[in-house]
Amino acid sequence: MTLLQELESRLAAALTATFGEPMKAEVTPAADLRFGDYQANAAMVLAKQRKTNPRALAQEIIDKLDLTDLATADIAGPGFINFHILPAAYAAYVQTLIRDERLGVPETGEGKTIVVDFSAPNVAKPMHVGHIRSTIIGDSLARIARFLGFHVIADNHIGDWGTQFGMILYGWKTKLNREALEADPIPELVRIYREVNAEIKTDDTLLEVCKAELVKLQAGDAENLTIWQQCIDFSKLGLQKIYDRLDVKFDYWLGESYYNDRLPGLVEEFLEKGIARESNGAACVFSDGTKKLEEDPFKVHREDGWNDNPALIRKADGGFLYATTDLATIQFRIDEWKADHIWYVVGVPQQLHFRQLFDAAARWGKTGDFKHIGFGSILGDDRKLMKTRSGDNVGLIEVLEEAVERAAAVIAEKSPDLTSEEAAQIAETVGIGAVKFAELSQNRLTDYVFSWDRMLALQGDTAPYLQYSHVRIRSIFRKLDAPFDPTAHKIHLNEDAEIHLARLLARFGEVLPTILEDFRPNLLANYVLELARAFHSYFEACPVLKADEPVRSSRLALCDLTSRTLKQGLYLLGINVPDRM
Ligand code: ARG
Repeated sequence: MTLLQELESRLAAALTATFGEPMKAEVTPAADLRFGDYQANAAMVLAKQRKTNPRALAQEIIDKLDLTDLATADIAGPGFINFHILPAAYAAYVQTLIRDERLGVPETGEGKTIVVDFSAPNVAKPMHVGHIRSTIIGDSLARIARFLGFHVIADNHIGDWGTQFGMILYGWKTKLNREALEADPIPELVRIYREVNAEIKTDDTLLEVCKAELVKLQAGDAENLTIWQQCIDFSKLGLQKIYDRLDVKFDYWLGESYYNDRLPGLVEEFLEKGIARESNGAACVFSDGTKKLEEDPFKVHREDGWNDNPALIRKADGGFLYATTDLATIQFRIDEWKADHIWYVVGVPQQLHFRQLFDAAARWGKTGDFKHIGFGSILGDDRKLMKTRSGDNVGLIEVLEEAVERAAAVIAEKSPDLTSEEAAQIAETVGIGAVKFAELSQNRLTDYVFSWDRMLALQGDTAPYLQYSHVRIRSIFRKLDAPFDPTAHKIHLNEDAEIHLARLLARFGEVLPTILEDFRPNLLANYVLELARAFHSYFEACPVLKADEPVRSSRLALCDLTSRTLKQGLYLLGINVPDRM
């Protein structure tokens, strides 16, 4: 049990005793440490319901509250109950954390299965900044959910069957440089895609040629299918390299094409069941009229009032759409994987798509907890969408390359004695960590301004700062003559700085579950920053190696627990820690 849970259970007992009926209690971390560690507003809520004086009720509750060996309580303001955890209680709790592999993190998964749909780039198109965000946020959420005990299936729903294949097939047949493809597939595929795309703009007949290639592919033409398959295989090789560098893993790569066979039957079923109907030759899902207009994803407000805003699931020419595939995908994930939750980590511009998708799926009887986890854009220094020097949207690879290059410069300056191999390895871990942390420390919904200097600063809210903090702690242990066993010592907390460090260590298990309430890895990012800062203050205020026993061992054990918590917190953000820096 976390300290917060312990407080909740004791408060619930006091409420039950006060009101003579079983009651639950909610305790939250205090917003301001001057008022205590935790607080509860139960007295205010209950006094309002019962029309009594909240402060008097708070006192009545406190009188019944058994806080032995745990905390003291007082009343503040209009009737808040503030709790101050006793240093001895922190010491005892930290002692249990030292022996706990899970660092106090409860298992909240209850055997539930979550499919996390993230990254999902489109084959032969460059991975853009939106895919960076999806990949980094999705991977972190998957790691956190897994650690909380959920059964997590990470699925890369790549766009491997779009209209872009008309252009790619034509480009493959007329422009492909096989050697370049084999050396580095994605840039070559992107090159041919871009060239054809540019030519089409000046040559109308080419568009028809490309369309014809696409129709042949969709009709199962053997040559085009073979090229398409090679294109997918090469792309996957290229993508896998990026994911390896990012240390991102998928359980499945079921791209859009995986569902092709299911689409005709699905549309027929939708028509039969009346979920869709024909309109101008196309099959469309319209509103079923059960929702308020403002909440109906199939209605849109224009100047002339409310209009239908249907989702196409089959075009008049017989072609299927993104939405059709996504419906088939939901069915598969529920039937085959028994998904309880499906999380889609996709940019905010696709919000309408997902609202329509979830509504249509529910009408089809596919129930589950479906969430669109959206995110804003990454902006350049000029506050416009981030572009490369040549004016293109920035691709993921360019960002990683530049981050690692810049990290290498920082490291060369800081630690000139490293071998070049060591330095390169550390630069990779630091550069990639910096990109991930810059992403994850933001509120995902706000646009954020990308700044190299800020993300790589050793003294800032950055991954390098956190990685360095970890290295710093581990270096203490390298100075010892014998291996240190943190479980063999009693924890003593006297100084404010060490009590504060213990307070933060105790919160790890409280912070993690809250991240999934609204899918906010930035809460974890803030937590690890606070922990690292608390460590540095502690290390300044409290001598460790120079202290006398038993304080020395107690402080070493705190250091050890801090490094484990920091490392685990960073791991859950997808960030690795180097041994040296
Ligand atoms: N390939 C899509 C894109 O790049 C994202 C797919 C997201 N997943 C999904 N099931 N729709 O925009």
